[in-house]
Amino acid sequence: MAERPDRWIGVALDRQIKPGSSNPAIVGGNAIAVWRAEKGPANVWEDRCPHRGMRLSFGFVRDGMLRCIYHGWGYELGGHCASIPAHPDLAPPKTICANVYRSEERYGIIWTNLSESPNAPLPDAGPDQGWQSIRSVYVARQVAAVKGGLASFDWGGGRVEEIGEGAALVNAGGLSLLIAIQPVDESKTGLHVVAKGEGAKDAKARLAWASRLERLRGSIEAQS
Ligand code: FES
Repeated sequence: MAERPDRWIGVALDRQIKPGSSNPAIVGGNAIAVWRAEKGPANVWEDRCPHRGMRLSFGFVRDGMLRCIYHGWGYELGGHCASIPAHPDLAPPKTICANVYRSEERYGIIWTNLSESPNAPLPDAGPDQGWQSIRSVYVARQVAAVKGGLASFDWGGGRVEEIGEGAALVNAGGLSLLIAIQPVDESKTGLHVVAKGEGAKDAKARLAWASRLERLRGSIEAQS
């Protein structure tokens, strides 16, 4: 089994997880399903149905439950199985439960902590309000190489400050960029980026930063 350290890891931008959808992701080699009921916050679960192991991210959302695509078992918020279509009169035992991880939405990013005993604080980027989505990019390099690339990249006069192990802040061009760093596996790292400040209010400026992140990805991957 892949390691599950007590650490908050950004796995997506809020806006990427639509109401009523289930989405796959990998964190440190662990497969997760990131899903949202018709309304409410995002949920992060192990991507495995307790029935026969089908990936829950392949499933669908109906009536506030995540339903497995294979036999349609429905799991309510909290993970308990509440519906078995082949036995509609059966109340499923409470022991049938999806593995639910801690999750939080903050700064416009969905974070999860896969530890069985999560105690670590979320990265502190100040007040939660006012953050705007920029984009997510996936770099075909390990986290250490990506952090090196973040530090050496030309941010237009800004500099990178790590906040905990899983995030970095860059102040540049009249805005603050928050970068959540997602270790995907041994060859891939995700960066989920939001911004706030005067320089983040204009859509064209945000687009320019999205292009710059693409250049960042290219520059890191160009390094051997
Ligand atoms: S494997 Fe999920 S309901 Fe059967």
